[in-house]
Amino acid sequence: MSDFFQSVVDWQLMHGRHGLPWQGSRDPYRVWLSEIMLQQTQVSTVLAYYPRFLERFPTLHALAAAPESAVMTLWSGLGYYSRARHLHRCAQVVVAEWDGQFPRTAAELQQLPGIGPSTAAAIAAFCFGERVSIMDGNVQRVLSRWLAFDQDLAQASSVKTLWALAQALIPPAATHPQMIAYTQGLMDLGATLCRRTKPHCLTCPLQPSCQAFEQDRTAALPVKRRTLKRRTEAWWFLVLRRPDGHLWLEPRPSTGIWAGLYTFPLLDGAEQARKPPHGVESLAPVWHEPIAHDLTHRALQLHLVEWAVTHDHDRAGGCWVDPRGDMDLGLPAPLRSWIRQRAQGL
Ligand code: ADE
Ligand code: SF4
Repeated sequence: MSDFFQSVVDWQLMHGRHGLPWQGSRDPYRVWLSEIMLQQTQVSTVLAYYPRFLERFPTLHALAAAPESAVMTLWSGLGYYSRARHLHRCAQVVVAEWDGQFPRTAAELQQLPGIGPSTAAAIAAFCFGERVSIMDGNVQRVLSRWLAFDQDLAQASSVKTLWALAQALIPPAATHPQMIAYTQGLMDLGATLCRRTKPHCLTCPLQPSCQAFEQDRTAALPVKRRTLKRRTEAWWFLVLRRPDGHLWLEPRPSTGIWAGLYTFPLLDGAEQARKPPHGVESLAPVWHEPIAHDLTHRALQLHLVEWAVTHDHDRAGGCWVDPRGDMDLGLPAPLRSWIRQRAQGL
């Protein structure tokens, strides 16, 4: 079975991805940051955010000492904002409880905020050569196909079983450089050859021993029964515009969707949107075209109702923002781009 391991290692060295900015580093801070960013975001997007983040926070200590708002601002646009809050908290925990040094085993790493078992394994394998297997979605696909493992991976117990099988594929004598190539190779195989649809089996190094290929079942694997149903929700936002064009933004509560990010004031519903706020200049609001925005479990329709207000219009708990300025605040990506586009049209 260890030919699986060696095939992945050899293939990675010859054909895998090289030269990504977090590769070649065994610095846990850099590797951890990249893995957190890559959890739910494409490589191409992370390539833009990663160097910017490191420039602003070159060390774990710099990140731990920063205000949360600065972290959120740099994260805004990457989505899944709880990652940023956990990242910040994790930096503080490592500084306070681990003397600023990340622990060296997956078992300890996964105790830290925001580090799940697969991310912990990736950091331990990349940085410390621990012989542990990652198990993200890509790897689940490669392994379930290669093994023709047809249990339902929507069940945690099936993932656990697959993980144990994966663990058994790593030879006890695997070296640190091999663990780096193997871990990266599994990710790269899943991303480039063993894709969800139309896998490139004919150029795959695992094809001679791949059970799904042999049984012509690549399209049926992996099995994941639960289908994600997004609930549709309409959100109504009150857009207040002063004569100087500034817009009023307020922070979201510290939990839930877009926690801690700035948005327009959220209204109770369409009814409330029809009522003029105090101090309006215009008689009627502008009803903007709704923005469709999908989150993991929800399909949001963002309705923006805009009122022109006078200069002395005031509210508590937020701030006026110049849409033509830096907008140096954490904003949900759809609102940021809406504001930007609108400012260009003025
Ligand atoms: N996705 C998660 N971790 C990754 C990595 N190290 N390289 C490329 N894609 C990834
Ligand atoms: Fe995936 Fe095809 Fe390779 Fe099997 S042979 S691991 S199905 S790409």
